[in-house]
Amino acid sequence: MKKISLTGIKPTGSLHIGNYFGAIKPALELTKDYDARYFIADYHALNTIKDPKELAANIRGVAAGWLAAGLDPGKVIFYRQSSIPETFELTTQLMAFTSKGLMNRAHAYKAAVQENTEKNEDPDAGINMGLFTYPVLMAADIILFDSDVVPVGRDQVQHIEMAQDIAQAVNFNYKCEVFKAPQALVQEDVAVVPGLDGRKMSKSYGNTIPLFCDEKTLRKLIMRIVTNSQSVEEPKDPDTSQIYLLYQLFANEEERRSLANRYREGGMGWGEAKEELFSVVNRELSPLRERFNEIIANPAELDAILRRGAEKARPIAAATVRRFRKAAGIE
Ligand code: TRP
Repeated sequence: MKKISLTGIKPTGSLHIGNYFGAIKPALELTKDYDARYFIADYHALNTIKDPKELAANIRGVAAGWLAAGLDPGKVIFYRQSSIPETFELTTQLMAFTSKGLMNRAHAYKAAVQENTEKNEDPDAGINMGLFTYPVLMAADIILFDSDVVPVGRDQVQHIEMAQDIAQAVNFNYKCEVFKAPQALVQEDVAVVPGLDGRKMSKSYGNTIPLFCDEKTLRKLIMRIVTNSQSVEEPKDPDTSQIYLLYQLFANEEERRSLANRYREGGMGWGEAKEELFSVVNRELSPLRERFNEIIANPAELDAILRRGAEKARPIAAATVRRFRKAAGIE
């Protein structure tokens, strides 16, 4: 039997190139060797997005993005978290085994408290219980589907460890393996994608290149990448140039070698390097963009795909919740 890989994608904005190389591509790669269960974590997004139109558009946008990037819903169980009511029953079950102190130590909660303290505000200002209990809902997402591995970025590792702790606390109490304890899978060779300003590409820095913007916007954004004041003639170092770092993600070996040489020889200005970058990025993203636009133009079909995914997911989820009920004496 294949092992199970599961990951959730929080629909808090539009997908960008950093998500593509950092999360989507590696997770799709894993579908070759694992039984994959990938879902849209819409109730996690609700903690921050209270505008219904925005949330609905994000959910469809992220779902369409995964499909456009190559997720095969015949092979991967692909669903919305909100379509699996067992998630919320399991969350309640796990709450009884989650110490409040564990939640106090969660990085995201601690960071929010620290920010408030620095601003001399009440430590819990603007913090809802959804944020505070975020790791329990996430543990439920994971444990519900008997996940072996959870491919995530480094920032999520603490959450997976908490899921592991909570599952083990349950198993310890009932002296049997009610739940499978998951492992984080952090891929070491996944590239850190630089953003327009050279820092890691991230929505919170506002330095992203969206995955599905039109060609004109794509060119405009690439032209906006921050460079230094070296003249056209000067030889340049490809390895410290974020244009080149981005180029490497999209170009083949020969193209990479050739552009690196042009950097070192001098005589190539930043504008020209950006044109080269635009051309390889657009080459890879054009077909994705086309598929994305087709999928998004047919929301009924998209919703049907997600519904079919939920239908496959629910019996698995129901079995997990039943296992707990039985172990706990709630039948
Ligand atoms: N917290 C994850 C993020 O922000 C999203 C997420 C929700 C998730 N539930 C999950 C990831 C379960 C992996 C497994 O990226």
